Amino acid sequence: MAEPAIEQKIQQLRDEINYHNYRYYILDDPDISDAAYDRLLRELQSLEREHPEFITPDSPTQRVGAAPQSEFATVSHTIPMVSLDNGFDEAEIRDFDARVRKLLTTEDNVEYVAEPKFDGLAVELVYEAGRFVLGATRGDGFLGENITQNLKTIKAIPLKLVERTNPVPQRLEVRGEVVIGTQAFEELNRRREAAGEPVFANPRNAAAGSLRQLDPKITASRPLDIFFHSAGQIIGANFETHWQFLYTITHWGLKVSPLRRLCRSLDEIFKFYDDLGSQREQLPYEIDGMVIKVNSLAQREFVGMKTRSPRWAIAYKFPARQEVTQIVDIKAQVGRTGALTPVAIMKPVRIGGVEVSRATLHNQDEIDKKDIRVGDWVVVQRAGDVIPEVVKVLINRRPPEATNYHLPDKCPVCNGHVERLPGEAAHRCQNLSCPAQLKQQIRHFASRGAMDIEGLGDKLIDQLVDKQLVKDAADLYSLSKDQWAKLERMAEKSAQNILDALDKSKHISFSKFIYSLGIRFIGEHTASLLAAHFKNLENLKHASYDELLTIYEIGPQSAQSIVQFFNEPKNIATVDKLLHAGIKIQHEEAKTGTQFSGKTFVFTGTLENFSRDEAEKLIASLGGRAASSVSKKTDFVVEGKEAGSKAAKARELGVTILNEDQFKKMVAE
Ligand code: IVH
Repeated sequence: MAEPAIEQKIQQLRDEINYHNYRYYILDDPDISDAAYDRLLRELQSLEREHPEFITPDSPTQRVGAAPQSEFATVSHTIPMVSLDNGFDEAEIRDFDARVRKLLTTEDNVEYVAEPKFDGLAVELVYEAGRFVLGATRGDGFLGENITQNLKTIKAIPLKLVERTNPVPQRLEVRGEVVIGTQAFEELNRRREAAGEPVFANPRNAAAGSLRQLDPKITASRPLDIFFHSAGQIIGANFETHWQFLYTITHWGLKVSPLRRLCRSLDEIFKFYDDLGSQREQLPYEIDGMVIKVNSLAQREFVGMKTRSPRWAIAYKFPARQEVTQIVDIKAQVGRTGALTPVAIMKPVRIGGVEVSRATLHNQDEIDKKDIRVGDWVVVQRAGDVIPEVVKVLINRRPPEATNYHLPDKCPVCNGHVERLPGEAAHRCQNLSCPAQLKQQIRHFASRGAMDIEGLGDKLIDQLVDKQLVKDAADLYSLSKDQWAKLERMAEKSAQNILDALDKSKHISFSKFIYSLGIRFIGEHTASLLAAHFKNLENLKHASYDELLTIYEIGPQSAQSIVQFFNEPKNIATVDKLLHAGIKIQHEEAKTGTQFSGKTFVFTGTLENFSRDEAEKLIASLGGRAASSVSKKTDFVVEGKEAGSKAAKARELGVTILNEDQFKKMVAE
């Protein structure tokens, strides 16, 4: 290819990739498969490798790769990033509205835009002629830190704005909140806990900590997201209202919360506040209230600012999910990997409608850092499904008899030796046969995502281990009906049910089998990657560290853990025992010759009987293929409840549409 042709091809690939990023990260509606996306990216990477002279900083290949910095440079904000006044009840919002109306003097109508108040880290991004050139933290409002390289790693941030009906301005300073979704946050903390790293107290801290990394590679590994909500200086575009601004920037490819509402009265504001509040627990992100802003920019000008906050906006906060209570005791809990977790036992309090009497203290470092003592009055926080935790100690309420706490050096369950290995935050019981570890291992083994042994609950597992009826998970399969029936709260019928459930569990997919082994760092997703790569247990058992590392998404930590697991004779013995007990691993090879073979399916809407993931796996196991978007090549579209544009597109293209019942029938055949 001639040079101009190459440059043109590179540009075309970039545009295509940017477009798909927009569909995926902003609209949440991808229209190509992940594999097709990866192909585009790889093609671009390889062209740029051969022609480095055409690499530009806004190329989608340039998100990661910047070298670590020794410190952040300072950035001065053109327009200070002020904060917001808070209101906590309707009366305070009525006062705010009355002040605004009074300042406007005219009898003008006032419209407000209400938006979620995201609990993240405020940032400002600068786009020049549509290109992302600078990003900074809020800092003290006047001076922030230059975190451009870190922001570039966030996929929801376009490196180049999309020009549609509205031309992009010469300069756009746009502000938003960097957040981590609650699920991603929990996953991140689980990984950190397993790796013996300190956990983050909440998604906000995790987002802030991730953004302020000097090495952008670390930031890139964190699941950060962003919502834009306001403007700094804009040169080359004019807006009359905030609503119009938000609408326009979404079309430039900047992500704005869809939960915004235009309110024409206080009643509409209060109604939206209630709506948001009732959705709060289910939202994928933490919000701590809503922000109410005057919509008209001319009116804002008129109403004006105070020194550190505007008069035209207010944050209407949700009730706190924190309460004050007293720690009466601290106990150490032993987990599956032997880690001792200190748990505060507290006088019960209700937080957000739930009674709380225990809170995790994570590890000894956390206790020391927060100087938590038995007897202390503390602030406890509950956020979503996250385990309640102690935020801080109220030092001036500390009773004189409050005592320091240290994790024991003997395991509270088996009296085994407890050790903290170098580089780990966790103290661990070193006894591999510790009953507490064994209980947790069996719990994991029997859980839904693993062997799914129905009816084998915590109480039963406790008895089995306490009575020394089982020494490992494989022993579950060797107990007689009589032995089961003799356990507390069991009888002949329930014993038979357990035996049936155990029998049923013997036919297990390879990935679930791997997951059920409880190898450190190997969750369901990683287990399915391993199953797909190694195909059978023998291969996996003998996998080398180097080979494991070649698998996409498997890092040094998981690789190391797998090798270690299969090097431990005790584990090999358990695995052999399981196979002897009659476990038949079903290898997930695609069947041929079914009516699914080679057929492409697209699912849309919500299915009643399957999760999306289950349905897609089912298709794959029957020899078909699941795709994320509808094209002429799609064979079937399965339509669930509230199906959207994909069903419409299928109708347009004349693709066969199945409802859930028809799909179930087809599977049953
Ligand atoms: S508007 C002058 N909108 O809250 C108006 N801010 O206490 C300034 N925040 O640092 C910002 N969600 O980062 C606005 N929907 C939203 C917001 C929001 C969160 C943050 C913002 C600011 C802080 C102000």
